[in-house]
Amino acid sequence: PNSSERNGSFWFQITHSYTFSYAQKFDKTQTYAYSLRLTLEKLLVKSVLFVCLGNICRSPTAEGIFRSKIKTKGFKIRHDSAGLTNWHEGHPPYEPMKNTCEQHGYNISDLRARIIKKEDYRDFDWILAMDDQNIDELKNIYPSDPENKIRKITSFIDGSLNRINVPDPYYTGDYEASLNLIEQAVEAFLNQIFE
Ligand code: 4NP
Repeated sequence: PNSSERNGSFWFQITHSYTFSYAQKFDKTQTYAYSLRLTLEKLLVKSVLFVCLGNICRSPTAEGIFRSKIKTKGFKIRHDSAGLTNWHEGHPPYEPMKNTCEQHGYNISDLRARIIKKEDYRDFDWILAMDDQNIDELKNIYPSDPENKIRKITSFIDGSLNRINVPDPYYTGDYEASLNLIEQAVEAFLNQIFE
């Protein structure tokens, strides 16, 4: 084959290389824009991390409820969830928990478990735990909490539920009860931070 058969027509080469370099430039600009957006978001947008033991039941439920509610209200708050163990690292939410969420209109099937990191304290404005055991574990990881970021999620609820632990449905089997309490706590948290 001659060179033009081998490499395509002159016009193809011109347009192709133009498209290619343009795409590369566009890509780079997008990457810069994206990292700038992330930096600005970290500075300007508040953020919350939901924490539980395994990160497959309570904290993904809390995140799922939270993201649905802020979407409805039109608020922008960064959110994530994490576990205090690596037992389920990379796993989707536990099937019965996921199904209970679905029955209440919350789809959490895209969430994946991860273990909490040292940097999470810096990267989030609130770290909301499910029970006293979680709080104790968090105090081991972050021996001081100068910004008072670490709270039990139910502490935002007014009245008698204020100090209650969110029962671990992995052990109790009552997914409905845990979801209902988490839903109340998330509502109360949102009311408090936007009052
Ligand atoms: P979670 O529940 O902390 O609400 O995700 C648990 C899930 C799994 C286990 C414990 C708690 N586990 O022992 O595997």
